[in-house]
Amino acid sequence: MRKVTVIGSINMDLTVTTKHVPDKGETVLGDTFATFPGGKGANQAVAAARLGADVSMIGAVGADSFGEDLLSHLSKEGINIRGVNTIPNESTGTATIIIHDGDNRIIVAPGANHHLTPFHIERNEALISRSDVLLVQMEIPIETIKAVSMLSDKYNIPLIVNPAPYQKLPQAVLKQATYLTPNQSEARLMQADDAWIDQKMITTLGSQGVELSATGEVIHGYPVQALDTTGAGDTFNGALSAKLSEGADVKEAIRFANAASALSVQKIGAQSGMPTLEEVKRFRQEREEM
Ligand code: RIB
Ligand code: NA
Repeated sequence: MRKVTVIGSINMDLTVTTKHVPDKGETVLGDTFATFPGGKGANQAVAAARLGADVSMIGAVGADSFGEDLLSHLSKEGINIRGVNTIPNESTGTATIIIHDGDNRIIVAPGANHHLTPFHIERNEALISRSDVLLVQMEIPIETIKAVSMLSDKYNIPLIVNPAPYQKLPQAVLKQATYLTPNQSEARLMQADDAWIDQKMITTLGSQGVELSATGEVIHGYPVQALDTTGAGDTFNGALSAKLSEGADVKEAIRFANAASALSVQKIGAQSGMPTLEEVKRFRQEREEM
């Protein structure tokens, strides 16, 4: 198994499903409520682990019950959590998610995630140096992402940057990234910021698939009935990194990740539908992709 190290956020998702989204000042009766493990970092780590990668997580939770639950959940998924810090007097990150008509609206309260500092990255230098792929998103401080990119450079380890939620990336990170994986709206913001390097861009287009700018191709996705698209992008990134860590060619890694993310949207909760390696294989065979 190849080693994928994910540096990123860990949240508890507080998920409500509703037929009506309230207007300003309005109260509506929703349908269901449940808590789910989430956070872009943790989601991507779980996706990669279920697909057979040897995954380590570097992140931060608060000293509260959400934090404890999320840590034990990550361990149960077989993820090495020695790089996850517990921050005293901080709350664990949360995401308040409204699901309406198969689409979501999300408010993230970062909490402990914003206390993941460059110092934590330096302290985990040995772990990072043994990785085959490094994977980051943008729910942690930019300086922390910069510190990861410096170690990616120092040890010559491929770095996948998922620019979500979008923030302007430092030049050094853009330069060091092996691939950047925006969705369409993040891609537009990157172009507006002049932060676009054709050779590196893998833009996700929802169920339509993925555009690989290096060749100008669209690698098609799998149309499926979506129950909850939360975490579909995370499944894509985790799967892409797991496949790339094995030395797969980028197009094969994208096809594999497209199948994994199509499977992930068929259950409510970011991680609930994330498939195993066997499930992805079967799905691709059914769709005559192999
Ligand atoms: O990408 C989906 C994730 O974004 C959710 O799990 C939520 O925690 C937010 O971080
Ligand atoms: Na899901």
